[in-house]
Amino acid sequence: MADKGVRGRLLFFPLPLQGHVTPMLQLAEIFYSKGFSITIIHTKYNSPNPSSYPNFTFLPISDGLSEKETSELSIFALASILNVNCLEPFKDCLTGLLSEESEVHTTCLISDTVLHFTREVAESFKLPRFVLRTSGVGVFRAFAAIPLLREKGYLPIQASRLEEPVPELPPLRVKDLPVINVPNAEMFYQLIAGLVNEAKTSSGVIFNSFEELEQSAVAAVRQEFPAPIFPVGPFHQYFPSASSSLVQPDETSISWLDKQAPKSVIYVSFGSIAAVKENEFLEIAWGLANCNHPFLWVIRPGSIHGSQHLESLPGGFLDMLGEKGHIVKWAPQLEVLAHPAVGAFWTHNGWNSTLESICAGVPMICMPCFTDQFVIARYVIHIWKVGVQLGNGLERKTIVEVIRKLMEDEEGEEIRNRVVDFKQKANFSLRPGGSSYETLESLISCISSS
Ligand code: UDX
Repeated sequence: MADKGVRGRLLFFPLPLQGHVTPMLQLAEIFYSKGFSITIIHTKYNSPNPSSYPNFTFLPISDGLSEKETSELSIFALASILNVNCLEPFKDCLTGLLSEESEVHTTCLISDTVLHFTREVAESFKLPRFVLRTSGVGVFRAFAAIPLLREKGYLPIQASRLEEPVPELPPLRVKDLPVINVPNAEMFYQLIAGLVNEAKTSSGVIFNSFEELEQSAVAAVRQEFPAPIFPVGPFHQYFPSASSSLVQPDETSISWLDKQAPKSVIYVSFGSIAAVKENEFLEIAWGLANCNHPFLWVIRPGSIHGSQHLESLPGGFLDMLGEKGHIVKWAPQLEVLAHPAVGAFWTHNGWNSTLESICAGVPMICMPCFTDQFVIARYVIHIWKVGVQLGNGLERKTIVEVIRKLMEDEEGEEIRNRVVDFKQKANFSLRPGGSSYETLESLISCISSS
């Protein structure tokens, strides 16, 4: 490892959501290992735990969010508010930082693409700005196409056109377009347009992806986009990282897995934001109870609409399950996916979960819930062919069938082989000569000369 700070100081600013904080801190660790000094600027809301990162400097800034806002608003509304509330505190923070006498030169800012205000502030300090896009390159391409898709009438989505291909954006169909059903669709479109614009005007866009996985999307974005593109992932594969979990993981997940047969368990988790309706929750519960396999199920508080945690389960359900199922509020996901007992991951296809599953060689059961997850599921099922679709409508019978198809049928065996192939490609991409290894080298020289 190079001496800390010899290459200058990098400032990182994550969006305070689990799926964004994790890759940003992993990226910071990668740069630390390359000799940069690291400062993390962060909101007080969902602030990371500095004690897990003794080598980094953490600078909290005010976000002006009330408890009511953080508990009641959608992530899109929260992000829009942060873009207003954080502007002045961020300016003050940079004024303090950049006027400090320090032997270490501040080289650049790396901010989340969703934090639009960082552009104006960085420009006013003449601080070079790179951005981290925490989802895939194919997703980014679809986000960038949203104005065109609106113009051509694909959006808003019409129920009668769901299965139509979108020739402007292969391999997507109308039902895969990265949108969300929110009351204020215009606010969502603005947030995405801002994200794309922040990326366009940056010195470079960093992706937690690798070229062997997203070859055609990377090539297309490189051709269509003004800023340089740096896919240098999968970040979590560089070295074992400190935990960036905003919630304490339940370690009984691992002791329970230790008692299960190899590749027998279905791991079920829908990330840090997605929530299901109460009737869907019940179908999932019965589907898992009726299938032939043990399961580890993450039920986050707040992940069932209109219900307090487990109260929706029928009386006696948990006793009836016995050792067949283990339920936790938050799991140590990377350890779970690496466990030999895990045979499949029933996921919402958040980008981090999807990459983590691929890198662990675990095939997926796909249940995308909003925006980028639809695009990702299309790639997982139809392009990479490392997962199966949970059919339309969430019904216990279909769940049992899909689990059987993946865990017991020949088709499942082929899917398992393909995901192991991608796991190897991911590892290869990080070695000298691999795409992410080489792209990281060019990113470092680009940053150093910025
Ligand atoms: C969201 C979006 O869905 C995602 O596509 C986007 O790129 C980032 O924001 P989220 O829905 O939380 O993120 O999903 P995901 O991207 O999969 O991230 C969840 C993270 O939490 C993963 O790194 C996963 O390992 C971790 N996790 C999840 C745990 O550590 N324990 C759990 O029990 C569940």
